[in-house]
Amino acid sequence: MMPSPDTFPVPLIHINETNSTNNYLQSLCSEQKVEELTVVVADFQTSGRGQRGNSWESAPGKNLLFSTVIFPEFLEARRQFLISQIISLAIKEELDTYTTDISIKWPNDIVVNGKKVCGILTEMSTEEDAIRYVVVGIGINANTTDFPEEIRATATSLALELGHPVCRAAVINGVMCAFEEYYGRYRETLDMSLLKELYNQKLVNAEREVKVLAPGGDYTGISHGINDAGELIVELPDGSIREINSGEVSVRGIYGYV
Ligand code: BTN
Repeated sequence: MMPSPDTFPVPLIHINETNSTNNYLQSLCSEQKVEELTVVVADFQTSGRGQRGNSWESAPGKNLLFSTVIFPEFLEARRQFLISQIISLAIKEELDTYTTDISIKWPNDIVVNGKKVCGILTEMSTEEDAIRYVVVGIGINANTTDFPEEIRATATSLALELGHPVCRAAVINGVMCAFEEYYGRYRETLDMSLLKELYNQKLVNAEREVKVLAPGGDYTGISHGINDAGELIVELPDGSIREINSGEVSVRGIYGYV
């Protein structure tokens, strides 16, 4: 069952099918006034989108495909990734109520037992360097029990991990309540200083050797979690420190995805 607009904490639009909930919400934002934290949730997406131009596929009615929107006029466009970190904290908090094995893989994948259970795609619209809105798209593998061969080794779902299906309405509800809370805390300082400690506790790749895939060449180092700016602190073998921004690089475990 999907959430009821009557009891949901923020405005909710439930649609059966769309190309992508991110596209749907972006069109709404350009056509009319949309309230902050409005949620669009779909049972099926015909062209769901993932990070780095990948597609995000999900069988009808099985998983959670939803987007929300914020209007962070104070955020620099190059710091958009902070919003993904904040929503990932909210998702982690909600999924913790189902299993203890949930963690965040920097900057914003949610993993359980080393496999990805949720992906986040934030997209923004700007006008002369000012952000008009940021749409935050969330795909949570809730009740799928069979993944395509290509991602079987790295993807999982709540149902697979728990051995039973979950109520999708309750998950969205919990995520949005937690997001309101964490986004409010972020707005107090406009950086990650009040959320950093919590985030670092949940980070699967904290104090671990990581491989940084950077445009200038890959390198390895020990990750020490994020700083106030949400950048990942990586200590190189020569003891030097790099603070890396997720817009520029991606991070893997040295033996695989996590
Ligand atoms: C990733 O590649 O990890 C990000 C996946 C994001 C998927 C969600 S599903 C809801 C929203 N609509 C989209 O088209 N993509 C996001």
